[in-house]
Amino acid sequence: MQYLSIKGKQKLSGSVSISGAKNAALPLLAATLLSKNKITIKNLPQVADVATLLKLLENLGATYERGESSVVVDATTVNSACANYDIVRKMRASILSLGPLLARFGHCEVSLPGGCAIGQRPIDLHLRALEMMGAVIDIQEGYVIAKAPNGLKGATIIFDKVTVTGSENIIMAAALAHGVTELLNVAKEPEVVQLCEILKEAGVKIDGIGTANLTIVGSYGKLIDIQDMSVIPDRIEAGTYLCAGAITNSQITITDVIPKHLEALTLKLQQMGFGIDITEKSITILPATTIKSCDIETSEYPGFPTDMQAQMMALCTQAVGTSIIDERLFENRFMHVSELLRMGAQIKLKGHSATVYGGVALKAADVMATDLRASSALILAALVADGTTRIHRIYHLDRGYENLEGKFSALGAKIERLEE
Ligand code: UD1
Repeated sequence: MQYLSIKGKQKLSGSVSISGAKNAALPLLAATLLSKNKITIKNLPQVADVATLLKLLENLGATYERGESSVVVDATTVNSACANYDIVRKMRASILSLGPLLARFGHCEVSLPGGCAIGQRPIDLHLRALEMMGAVIDIQEGYVIAKAPNGLKGATIIFDKVTVTGSENIIMAAALAHGVTELLNVAKEPEVVQLCEILKEAGVKIDGIGTANLTIVGSYGKLIDIQDMSVIPDRIEAGTYLCAGAITNSQITITDVIPKHLEALTLKLQQMGFGIDITEKSITILPATTIKSCDIETSEYPGFPTDMQAQMMALCTQAVGTSIIDERLFENRFMHVSELLRMGAQIKLKGHSATVYGGVALKAADVMATDLRASSALILAALVADGTTRIHRIYHLDRGYENLEGKFSALGAKIERLEE
């Protein structure tokens, strides 16, 4: 198995180009199941989760050709509606095949994703919405068996909670449904917005894009004419590099980003004392005279993203004063705390709230990555720790960060990928 070795206490400098967003690429790839033609997707990140979804599409009967940062997908040949356990267990987001498969074939079998390191993560809201659209759903031997022999029907659906992949699943199902679907309390994340926009370009009538309420006129079961597209930049990868600049108190620039998507983070970094220079497609972080503590409460977009919570916690260990971090979305998203403690951080956990006592000198240690974003917090901590930190189980990082060591090395970090 591979691990990362990071020698701490190095200043960073320079700029880093941000890749396409994993969380946008996954629903866009799932949407190819709705298409009557081949589609080229550009700015596709080379990360393990994307490879897993391509594998799932291939298992269903699609073909694809991969370029360096693009893919051409032909899902017109799909002849199976069964997403099996072997693939779904590798990546929860495989559940994104449920809505499109059911809408296209009138039946499907998709393995239940089960829990994961950050919590229970049910899919009840996905299933309830499909039932309201006329699906009959059974859970048998760990599979969702869904049937809608006469096609899904437009309905009015209120999501009890804001769910990102739940919204995406039902938006894709509604695109092929019979009649009009009204969705209320939909996620407003940029990745959901991009999915709506490509469906609109394909001729689906969608009103309310970017708001919590969508009205979607379905195609009555006909496949749609999805156009070529380019994946939006990854706001979480971008945020992680900004936090790397912040924790090392260095000046770095991230390029090829949509700064608006990062506003919740850049505002926090400014409150903490960092300078932030924004152009149309880049953000530069400038060192702080004093890094001030801050309080964070995670929430849905445009609030502070849960996917940046772990990285901010690492940063808060270097602030002057005490920071309170409230995790409101996932019940168990504090797996990084015990690893940060092993590096000398002072953090107290109570329920969904973490109190971070800042201004402590971190020390290198052997640490374990537990989930994707928790692992990036460990990289950040390692950048300022005294000595060489070894981060194990880095397959979690490879799920979502393209060319991680290459990008960090280009910024001046002393980072190596080694074999155990
Ligand atoms: C997506 C992102 C993930 C991010 C999360 C929150 C992808 C591939 N993943 O995950 O990186 O951390 O949004 O921004 O885009 N819930 C239910 N029932 C459901 C669905 C969700 O109770 O049927 C709950 C979840 O347990 C959680 C909350 O709703 O507490 C939000 O989860 P959700 O937005 O669905 O997360 P994902 O879409 O899985």
